Amino acid sequence: MENITKYTLKLLSLRQKIFLLFILFLAIIVSLSELVSLGSIALFVTIIADSNYVIDKIPSKNLNNFLSSLSQKDLILYFSIFLSIVFLFKSILLIVFNWLLAKIEIGIERTIASKLYSKYLSNNYEYFLITSSSKLINSIKDESNRYSIFIYSFVSIFKDVALLLILVSGLLLINFTGTISIFAAILFFSLLIFLIIKNFIKRIGKEQTIFRTKIYDILNQTFQSTKTIKLLGIEDFFQNKFFSSLKLILRNTLKIRVINPMPRILLEFVAIIGMSLLVIYLTQFEEDLVVLLPTLSFSALTIMRMIPAFSAINQNITHVLSNMYAAKIIINDLESKFNQKVEINEKDFNNNQQKTFNSEIDIESLELKDISFKYITSEKIILNKINLKLYKNDVLGIIGKTGSGKSTLGDIILGLIQPQTGEIFVNNNPNLFHSKFFKKQIGYVPQDIQLLDNSIKNNIAIGIEEEKIEDKLINHCIKSSKLDKFIHNLPNGINTIIGERGVRISGGQKQRLGIARTLYRSPKLILLDEATSALDSKTEEEVINNIEQENKNKIIIMIAHRLSTLKNCNKLLIIENGKIVDFDETENILKNNEYLREYFKKKTN
Ligand SMILES: Nc1ncnc2c1ncn2[C@@H]1O[C@H](COP(=O)(O)OP(=O)(O)OP(=O)(O)O)[C@@H](O)[C@H]1O
Ligand SMILES: [Mg+2]
Repeated sequence: MENITKYTLKLLSLRQKIFLLFILFLAIIVSLSELVSLGSIALFVTIIADSNYVIDKIPSKNLNNFLSSLSQKDLILYFSIFLSIVFLFKSILLIVFNWLLAKIEIGIERTIASKLYSKYLSNNYEYFLITSSSKLINSIKDESNRYSIFIYSFVSIFKDVALLLILVSGLLLINFTGTISIFAAILFFSLLIFLIIKNFIKRIGKEQTIFRTKIYDILNQTFQSTKTIKLLGIEDFFQNKFFSSLKLILRNTLKIRVINPMPRILLEFVAIIGMSLLVIYLTQFEEDLVVLLPTLSFSALTIMRMIPAFSAINQNITHVLSNMYAAKIIINDLESKFNQKVEINEKDFNNNQQKTFNSEIDIESLELKDISFKYITSEKIILNKINLKLYKNDVLGIIGKTGSGKSTLGDIILGLIQPQTGEIFVNNNPNLFHSKFFKKQIGYVPQDIQLLDNSIKNNIAIGIEEEKIEDKLINHCIKSSKLDKFIHNLPNGINTIIGERGVRISGGQKQRLGIARTLYRSPKLILLDEATSALDSKTEEEVINNIEQENKNKIIIMIAHRLSTLKNCNKLLIIENGKIVDFDETENILKNNEYLREYFKKKTN
């Protein structure tokens, strides 16, 4: 709890903190105005019953004389006006207070949601290998809202406690024992109710977070596998999963709905009994009931006003408890260290180096030294002491059985995952690899291309604002990746929307879009991971030729199962179970590997 408060204060901007303080101050003013308005009603009731009784009590002589000169009817008229003004003032104050409170609540939700979004995005790629997107979506969308409710509830509790204290002091002024006994009774029952439901509410709050993530998970899985579901006719399987999660979450919602108003109902009951007892007690000592009227009406009104305050406190404590888990998760996520990249920026280079590493660096060489790697989730060593060096103009082909570690090696070169041991040098410099200058020069076409549900143009120029996209370059890349024929036949051309994950285009078209996307940025190191596996041999050959022709003076790395893809490579690397078996000039490799020689001969001739 302490941690959450500390962290919340850290999260809020100075402006938000001042704003929050102002709201707390306003809460006290609002409470005071409530006291004044309740007092005015009590006074009004007494004036109607016996105005002289009230007038006699006024200490100011002038006012006293003035009021005595008025008729009872005029007095009631003036007091009605006074009462209306008091209530108007109170209403305006309440409206302003609620508006400001809602404003800070929304402000906090915005702060949290945007911080979470940025934090998640800044996390290492490895974080996404172990975290489901459903969890992330749930945190950003729902849990940040729950966090803001958590803060809102805190402020509300403060407001209602202030109100209670002020009302009690008001009551204390006119009747000590009666007030204390009723207040103590309500307080006691409040605490009792709170203690009974505390753990229950806490548990439900935690469960709701888990269930919500689960629902998002199932929805994601369902709508990402529609083809498989339809084909296998397994709608029932997914439906049942969804229905049972939905049932769980709604069952908890029902429980919360039943529990929430319960404190109020019980407290009202206790208060009415208390009040009846108070009336009986007071009337025992007093013959003239008019004398009792101000005390009685004020006590009754105040106690009736206390009940909603008590139940609001109760309800808000429930909110705090049920949303505490959300707050914990958010703080945990925001504090996690998954984004501690070894990124080195301009500042970290000394002046001398900075000159050489202008934003347009040339990649002369890329060297991997003793690179070993294993994923966090498994003990298996995926890459074992990898050593290799490539130079400008090299075209490397990586060959290896499925699961041998080719894509993992690619991810290491891309800097997406960090090896446990070993170092990578760019132009013989270990810092350059981690710099943003190098990152900018990498082009990558993955095995499974991630496409946006957007136009072909926006998919190729991903991350670039529409007005800055160079259509000429787009058309050039489309030609190089042999997409031109396909796109020219589309009625909307490059503005055609390709559907979620590119469902409206073919596998080979997706791959070529991936290649066009990479070419658009004209990188100096290109990594193609099975980037042409879905193309027919002729198209593949043409596309690869285009890539090679247009990217002289660069380093190209190609991973492929189909050996014909690699026939233009000047170097080959054979990997087996995460170990390099052979890495050399293509001719030398072919000399030692008869089966490869056969294959290359067959395909090249
Ligand atoms: N995120 C991950 N967590 C744990 N293990 C993983 C992860 N990704 C891959 N692996 C494992 O690492 C090994 C190497 O995988 P990798 O994807 O590099 O193989 P590959 O050579 O590219 O195979 P393919 O030719 O089928 O694409 C495999 O045994 C795989 O199961
Ligand atoms: Mg792979």
